[in-house]
Amino acid sequence: MAEAAHTFESDSDRVWNEICSLGLKTYVADLDTDGYTVIPPEIASPAGLSERLLEACLDVMERRTGVRPDPGAGHADLATPTPARARNSPVGNTASMLLLEDPVFEEALMNPVLLAMVTHLCGYNVVMSSMSCSFKGPSKTTFRLHTDTRLPSPLPTQALVCKGMYLLTDYSRDNGATVFIPGSHKWCRNPVGDETLVREAGNDRAVPVEAAAGSLVVFHGNTWHGAINRLAPGLRVSVHALMVRPIIRTREDLIGRVPQEVLDRNPARFAILAQQGLAGGTTALGDMAANVARAQKYISAFERESGVTLPVKDSS
Ligand SMILES: [Fe+2]
Repeated sequence: MAEAAHTFESDSDRVWNEICSLGLKTYVADLDTDGYTVIPPEIASPAGLSERLLEACLDVMERRTGVRPDPGAGHADLATPTPARARNSPVGNTASMLLLEDPVFEEALMNPVLLAMVTHLCGYNVVMSSMSCSFKGPSKTTFRLHTDTRLPSPLPTQALVCKGMYLLTDYSRDNGATVFIPGSHKWCRNPVGDETLVREAGNDRAVPVEAAAGSLVVFHGNTWHGAINRLAPGLRVSVHALMVRPIIRTREDLIGRVPQEVLDRNPARFAILAQQGLAGGTTALGDMAANVARAQKYISAFERESGVTLPVKDSS
């Protein structure tokens, strides 16, 4: 008698199939070897995603500060209420809390290319911790090498944290690129002392990202990274999605704060990414049970939609 067809698909099978169908195998290989990868615009930014993200980021900054940044000629401090802070900062000025500002940010979060890469690193229950835009003008202070895992060494080998960065302007040395130490995610520790210096007396192994606007950089939270100074006029603009496993406390608190219309117009996975599957902290036993029940509703919807079984559930 013939055996029944094998139909079980593990989560790792599932994400590998997504990676293959999206043409991402080589980028996953880079990510696993170097701790970071740069995916080109023709794959990472379908339908002019990066151009629309740039306009939306400029709109947000204009709404919040009254000044529209000029990526071609402007300086970050043109669009901040605290200019001295932005001028002295190695990262420039930041617009945070973007997800609910414009549907294009929802699209950026749901981009299948981003999702395949961050799922490879952090699993199907990965959560967005924050989404922000960085506007970096000419600078005199390099951004020291660090990890984003933000735990004391030794760091766990599995990624607890990862980041997707949409480059909205061209990245180059003169444009103040992010730099990475290839392979440093495998060292499972934070840089210390002179190791944190970028092209100064210390670490000179830092490799700058040189890539066109529209590219997507994805990196493991353990990978040592920083940035070199921007020498060119104008602004380096990028959108950063910090993604974490659900046991990590998020920077932004979206639990119960995403409008129903936003949830309704997106797949069930969006709710998981936007923290609706998290129960959150409580001060009362009754609240805990209600919070868990609410989170479970979104988890169940995602499991029905995807066939995925999320690995950890609250049992209370
Ligand atoms: Fe960082």
